[in-house]
Amino acid sequence: VMRRKIVAGNWKMNGSKDLSEKLVGYVRTEAGSLDNGVEVVIIPPAIYIRDVVGQAGGAVSVGVQNVGQWQSGAYTGEISSEMAKDSGCDYVLVGHSERRQIFGETDELVAEKVALVVASGLTAIVCVGETLEERESGSAESVVESQVRQGLSAVSGAWKNVVVAYEPVWAIGTGKTATAEDAQAMHASIRTVLKEMGAPAEEISLLYGGSVKADNAAALFAEPDIDGGLIGGASLVAEEFISICRYFP
Ligand code: G3H
Repeated sequence: VMRRKIVAGNWKMNGSKDLSEKLVGYVRTEAGSLDNGVEVVIIPPAIYIRDVVGQAGGAVSVGVQNVGQWQSGAYTGEISSEMAKDSGCDYVLVGHSERRQIFGETDELVAEKVALVVASGLTAIVCVGETLEERESGSAESVVESQVRQGLSAVSGAWKNVVVAYEPVWAIGTGKTATAEDAQAMHASIRTVLKEMGAPAEEISLLYGGSVKADNAAALFAEPDIDGGLIGGASLVAEEFISICRYFP
């Protein structure tokens, strides 16, 4: 089965106009010579979308880190999925653990946003993942299952516009990665849940995120159910980010 292979760089609240110009131009050039079919996605702060879109193209596409749960209107500070599309984005992150933990986003809210994103024709990268406490108490799989079922409850037929990113919260920005075996086990479990939901599970790309670096990417990407990565810190360093893109089998 052909699944999209994706390496996405989430800049979070980092970067600048200068980085948008230099890093993205470099990544675009280098990505042009990758022969492994990887799609590279740059996800900068929304204010730099225009700069990044100007440098992207070819194997490099662009996403936003978040959208509001409304179409338009009096929601100061928010941007919509339609605006992301209008500005040249193909992807939207939904329910990143930082949105869930710092901004109180619930699975219900995630489901509302996913519905708007897929309706606008963009691909939602829906983030799920357990906390350290949940992993240690043995509930990691059930927590993630519930996030997948609820977060994707409103997708109905638009599964081709859905990517799931598994990011264990304890691995984000900590330098601790899940072992390739543990990540693979969770990805296989997510694929089973998607199948039970009636989704074409074999066609849905599942990305791993959490301290992915050039030196651990190859082992992760060699696993059968890991179709790419969602990269934070390492996506801000051009050479390291492009090295990660090279590590697909
Ligand atoms: O969206 C990216 C993830 O949160 C991973 O971040 O690579 O800095 O651990 P990290």
